[in-house]
Amino acid sequence: MTDGLFIAFEGGDGAGKSTQVELLRAALEARGRTVTVTRQPGGTRLGQQIRDLVLHGEHVAPRAEALLFAADKAHHVEELIVPALRAGHVVLTDRYTDSSVAYQGAGRSLGAQEIHDLAMWAVDDLVPDLTVIVDISAAEGRRRRGEVHDRLESEQDDFHEAIRAHFLAMAAGNPQRYLVVDGLAAPGEIHEQVLARLDAMGVLP
Ligand code: TYD
Repeated sequence: MTDGLFIAFEGGDGAGKSTQVELLRAALEARGRTVTVTRQPGGTRLGQQIRDLVLHGEHVAPRAEALLFAADKAHHVEELIVPALRAGHVVLTDRYTDSSVAYQGAGRSLGAQEIHDLAMWAVDDLVPDLTVIVDISAAEGRRRRGEVHDRLESEQDDFHEAIRAHFLAMAAGNPQRYLVVDGLAAPGEIHEQVLARLDAMGVLP
């Protein structure tokens, strides 16, 4: 598309994705890159409204949940991600299409292929240059989240284990596009692994 670089962070709730996003932002900015940090759902005004509906509202039927996440992605990509990439920015997103495939496809049993196709249609086939999976067990994620739960976080451990297994399977199926890191490792150590991978890809300034 341009000089832009698109990196997604994925993983279970409480895995430490946001910390990694911030560490990478700082490292890339220190190297002179312009970085756009965003998240799904959210990231735009409409996305924030969808986020409130889907995470903090009343019960949402699973197919409606999938469509709301897809609507967030469609708007987010067109309004924010693509313009930032065209401007040559590095875009770091906290969650992207693989969250839909794992949470709605595997977690909600709506079908990974169907949700993958829906999400790809929503984002007009925009695939990250690298997706980092911060891997964590359901029990550890629950421990780290403490008492505060949104609609999806409050699901049982088997729901979160299905999601975890699906993230790992996606990564195993396409090792060039994914980096799996152990969410139990120290944040600085995980960050070094991410930098090493970007270095190996030849995209570090
Ligand atoms: P996140 O922003 O990581 O939550 P928090 O800010 O509370 O850490 O993600 C919100 C929740 O939405 C999370 O449980 C995963 C879920 N989700 C989906 O189910 N499908 C999706 O497509 C996305 C992007 C998120």
